[in-house]
Amino acid sequence: MKEMISTYIPYLDLQPYNNRFAQQDLKTFKEIQATGKLIGGEWVSRFESAFASYCGASHCIGTANGLDALTIILKAEVALGNLPEMAKIAVPAHTYIATFLSILHAGMQPIPVDVEELNLTTQALRQLHQKYDAIIAVDIYGKLVGDEVYDYAREKSIPIYCDTAQSHGATNDKGLKSGNLARASAFSFYPTKNLGALGDAGAITTNDHELAITCRKIANYGRESRFVNNLVGVNSRLDTLQAGFLLNRLPQLDTDNQRRVEIAAYYLKHLQNSKVRLHSLDFLNNNVVHVFPVYVDQRKVFVDHLDSQGIGTSAHYEVPPHQQKALAHLNQLRFPVTEKLHRTEVSLPCHPLLTLEQMQRVVQVVNGY
Ligand SMILES: Cc1ncc(COP(=O)(O)O)c(C=O)c1O
Repeated sequence: MKEMISTYIPYLDLQPYNNRFAQQDLKTFKEIQATGKLIGGEWVSRFESAFASYCGASHCIGTANGLDALTIILKAEVALGNLPEMAKIAVPAHTYIATFLSILHAGMQPIPVDVEELNLTTQALRQLHQKYDAIIAVDIYGKLVGDEVYDYAREKSIPIYCDTAQSHGATNDKGLKSGNLARASAFSFYPTKNLGALGDAGAITTNDHELAITCRKIANYGRESRFVNNLVGVNSRLDTLQAGFLLNRLPQLDTDNQRRVEIAAYYLKHLQNSKVRLHSLDFLNNNVVHVFPVYVDQRKVFVDHLDSQGIGTSAHYEVPPHQQKALAHLNQLRFPVTEKLHRTEVSLPCHPLLTLEQMQRVVQVVNGY
């Protein structure tokens, strides 16, 4: 359909999105190439300090991607004696599989918890009968996990980490940003994220000095110094070129996030169709709207309708982690809210370059379904 309709509205087209930075990126590429320092170096340190200060965190450690960032945090906590080996980690069932995989890659056990509407809640944690050693919260779709979940973890003296892969720049009611709310947070800069690189990239933020040092070592072969390796590390460093490209994009992040929120507010106001369920206005609070979700009973029919009218969509996601073949040992578990979300969710175009005309067209077509 895309080829036939000249006014096709893609879910997200990364080309114009990144074209905004093309000149700066070329300059960055030339400058980095000229230094001859292609691993680590000044550009990585510059991005790390810029991003730490943007998040309000004391430390930022660049990694190769978001999955590694999460895994490295967990491994570092074991190395520091803050988590037992094979720790049990409470995790929302409603997330991307990467959150679960990080726990497994760290040799630990995921304890999935169903969500109430979108995110992990204290109510759900209170009802959990199994014991757990730590929590990984997830700011799904860009919406921050509620402060009460952090308070609950503190009250129980349980370490809480956050998968902030989708929430760059989201701010809570106290003015604290994503990346400065948990003991450590893991960001992904996958190209489609609110802050995206030109390839894979990720980062850890934390206010704990020891944890920061240990994460940095693990991400770099467990290296203490050039020929001394004290920990079983991995190779997961933030690529120097990606650090440069991310530095070009960081100043635009707040404006882009603001635009995403405006688009989401427009949709919430104008979408009116009894066959298409929406979140309440609360969805917009503490949210940078990485994804704008709607929910329909007949997903394929709805997606085909939009596609035939020239509108691209996505899904986040179709099959939850506990129902994936790769996680067969979790397949017998049931999480009704999560399963319904994954069965019915459709993501509408919601990116900073979407025009008013395109938003109006999306509303018209969805309302006409
Ligand atoms: C919620 C969530 N966690 C973790 C990840 C993993 O990030 P990456 O693809 O950079 O490894 C992603 C990105 O896809 C994600 O959306």
